[in-house]
Amino acid sequence: MVGATGQVGTLMLELLRERGFPAREIVPFASARSVGRTLDGGLVVQGLDDESIQGFDLALFSAGSSTSGKWAPKFVQAGATVIDNSSHWRMQDDVPLVVSEVNPDALDAHNGIIANPNCSTMQMVVALKPIHDAAGIERLVISTYQAVSGTGKAAVDELLGQSHALLHEREIEPPDSYAHQIAFNALPHAGTFAAGEDHTDEELKLINETRKILDDPAIRISATCVRVPVVNGHSEAVNVQTRDELSPERARELLAAAPGVSVIDDPGAALYPLAIDATGKDDVFVGRIRRDPGHERALDMWIVADNLRKGAATNAVQLAELLHERGLVHPQGAPSAT
Ligand SMILES: NC(=O)c1ccc[n+]([C@@H]2O[C@H](COP(=O)([O-])OP(=O)(O)OC[C@H]3O[C@@H](n4cnc5c(N)ncnc54)[C@H](OP(=O)(O)O)[C@@H]3O)[C@@H](O)[C@H]2O)c1
Repeated sequence: MVGATGQVGTLMLELLRERGFPAREIVPFASARSVGRTLDGGLVVQGLDDESIQGFDLALFSAGSSTSGKWAPKFVQAGATVIDNSSHWRMQDDVPLVVSEVNPDALDAHNGIIANPNCSTMQMVVALKPIHDAAGIERLVISTYQAVSGTGKAAVDELLGQSHALLHEREIEPPDSYAHQIAFNALPHAGTFAAGEDHTDEELKLINETRKILDDPAIRISATCVRVPVVNGHSEAVNVQTRDELSPERARELLAAAPGVSVIDDPGAALYPLAIDATGKDDVFVGRIRRDPGHERALDMWIVADNLRKGAATNAVQLAELLHERGLVHPQGAPSAT
């Protein structure tokens, strides 16, 4: 496991244990800063080098894009299949981008690297898949309300540190994780703006990854990604326009029957999905399902999930389980670990 000391890596280790993944041995890797550290459960963190990466069947990566870009091919060369949480490989044609409930058969075509989607895309497509199958999605208008844990551990510390300082009427340190103060604020700037680009990379990921996972490049998508001062759990307001008419009642039935989805939808009783309730759970929660009064073939809904679990770690472990169950850990023709 590469990135084993991070938020996603720690959770992947926990999930492998909790779900009884049949690994003979798990070896944690992280940056040079952590080499020699003993993790919960007694595993000792290793450093990445050409020798230490030999002999693995599976490598789960959550150590950022540049580490994946450099080390994933080396693990593949050494005989492992890589499941990668970073954005580095996701849009490459020969790399399947897979959500376990949505397009598991895409694993069949893997060549050694499998990409785990971006967290805000992941939770949304789990909820959209049954609607797409039943009525054909033509257009999506998405606004996200993304938690700071999606940025990494340092951003969580920054939100808590700023909140504490402000509540004690102290000056805050200059922001580091974001362009502005995140405490008591909402930033229309989740991700980064490339030079000359008016969408953030997070918004472009939501657009491009959704089309790739649902295997439908014709879906028209508008996305605004907002960072909010929530520690964990992404929320999304999604307007879904379908080709065929779909009633809110039918959508509720479809979603209630869908794998990995829980419907919480009784707004009169103040029951709808909340980030704090989704935290620590693996399902995607959907509520506020209603007809868009401005369009006869569109619905509005509110989709919430734990971005570290289903948005990253849980799906990565589910993909490892699927590879194992389907005998796909070693793609045909690839060298296997000894
Ligand atoms: N957070 C989310 O909601 C989410 C969702 C989907 C995908 N992801 C992706 O998952 C990855 C990790 O996210 P996170 O939230 O877990 O980040 P994090 O808490 O900041 O952890 C980063 C991990 O990467 C390791 N690392 C950093 N540089 C390294 C290097 N040069 N070589 C080896 N290991 C290195 C760190 O090791 P040290 O402890 O030694 O620094 C740590 O284990 C990112 O690619 C992120 O985009 C995150």
